[in-house]
Amino acid sequence: PESGCLSIIVLGASGDLAKKKTFPALFNLYRQGFLQSNEVHIFGYARTRITDDELRDRIRGHLLHGKGASSENSEDVSKFLQLIKYVAGSYDAEEGFRLLDKEISEHEVSKNSKEGSSRRLFYLALPPSVYPSVCQMIKTCCMNKSDLGGWTRIVVEKPFGKDLDSAEELSTHIGELFDEPQIYRIDHYLGKELVQNLLVLRFANRFFLPLWNRDNIDNIQIVFREDFGTEGRGGYFDEYGIIRDIIQNHLLQVLCLVAMEKPVSLKPEHIRDEKVKVLQSVLPIDAEEVVLGQYEGYIDDPTVPDNSNTPTFATVILRIHNERWEGVPFILKAGKALNSRKAEIRVQFKDVPGDIFKCKKQGRNEFVIRLQPSEAMYMKLTVKKPGLDMSTIQSELDLSYGQRYQEVTIPEAYERLILDTIRGDQQHFVRRDELKAAWEIFTPLLHRIDDGEMKPLPYKSGSRGPVEADSLLEKAGYVQTHGYIWIPPTLN
Ligand code: BG6
Repeated sequence: PESGCLSIIVLGASGDLAKKKTFPALFNLYRQGFLQSNEVHIFGYARTRITDDELRDRIRGHLLHGKGASSENSEDVSKFLQLIKYVAGSYDAEEGFRLLDKEISEHEVSKNSKEGSSRRLFYLALPPSVYPSVCQMIKTCCMNKSDLGGWTRIVVEKPFGKDLDSAEELSTHIGELFDEPQIYRIDHYLGKELVQNLLVLRFANRFFLPLWNRDNIDNIQIVFREDFGTEGRGGYFDEYGIIRDIIQNHLLQVLCLVAMEKPVSLKPEHIRDEKVKVLQSVLPIDAEEVVLGQYEGYIDDPTVPDNSNTPTFATVILRIHNERWEGVPFILKAGKALNSRKAEIRVQFKDVPGDIFKCKKQGRNEFVIRLQPSEAMYMKLTVKKPGLDMSTIQSELDLSYGQRYQEVTIPEAYERLILDTIRGDQQHFVRRDELKAAWEIFTPLLHRIDDGEMKPLPYKSGSRGPVEADSLLEKAGYVQTHGYIWIPPTLN
């Protein structure tokens, strides 16, 4: 691995994302020895005029009480916080960025007495409206010093635009300043343990190879549910809605990994080539295969306009026009303020042909990958009911991570992805052409919603969402198993 000076600059340091995700992820990397204090320096940058200590105080609580935190942490937390320096400045004027560059350079000089290298990672924990100016400022004032070697990389978060045109405009702008290998478009779903497992599962197991296609699979659901509303983020959310917030990025990325062909190798470009192909094979969305919802009470949020047409729930069926998937609906479903919080992939197989246990209809085989919470994968199958009678019941083969890997703390998505940016591995980041293809799929639908041509149906907060979504699922071929529920095993 590379060594020498590494500067991590968190822009938008006093914002929510930085406090809740970026700094805790950096702390976890530090705690595990991935960030060496003799090499790394962390800079926070934002407009607010505060001192280093004030920033540290704002972050501290999130480090002490975050995932994996324990009381033994407090010494580590203090040491980590000492690595952080704060620089205040605006997002569109050179002054602040020159100051930032000066701070970074001083640190590079002091740490480079032995070996030279200037590695600079800019994490834009910012609203996308300021991406263009911030990227311009970084390019003008803050690039790594070439005589020292190293690199400059930037990490950007969604939303990358609001539709195809605005996304392309943003991409073009950033593309004029940075080369694609310098740009890390983060989609944190790609950092989740079970999402990262998908390629291994699909391509390292003989079990799945012959089954993973239209001959055997009836339908695939990719589901995201949250049991809380848009509390506190109504203003942001109302501009975007559930399709831009969750489906066009997180769920579509998962779809790519579920549906793509085997890549030539594990090289990032090979994997991303296959993802792009899947996206390009998706047919235009049929409005008949869309159900939108908005939970009652959403517009009570003072930051949401009373006449908002923004969906907080959507079920959208995608159809992939290729040899493997023709005729198999990919049902993407996401909702806020529902009755539970979970994310899962549910692969439902076709009925057994020539079934001899007909007297009682058998449940279908399902392979379920639970992304969160209680990470697991289980295969729902029919077995003989133990006992003297020859009758059947539904059961499962279950790999529950909490039980099977008791010694392992599953890393946070951001932690893993930030480590990748330092290592220069773009495998789990979204490439420009991938982003474009993703917007191409959803833009016509989004425009119809934005224009008020399609309206969300009301649903009760804490419910399953609009009943019409269940009817759509049924119409698409999904068969719900009644009287069976998988319960994550509890540890003794
Ligand atoms: C974010 C969305 O990208 O993902 C949020 O903007 C959502 O609306 C969040 O709550 C969900 O992430 P996770 O990791 O909790 O499933």
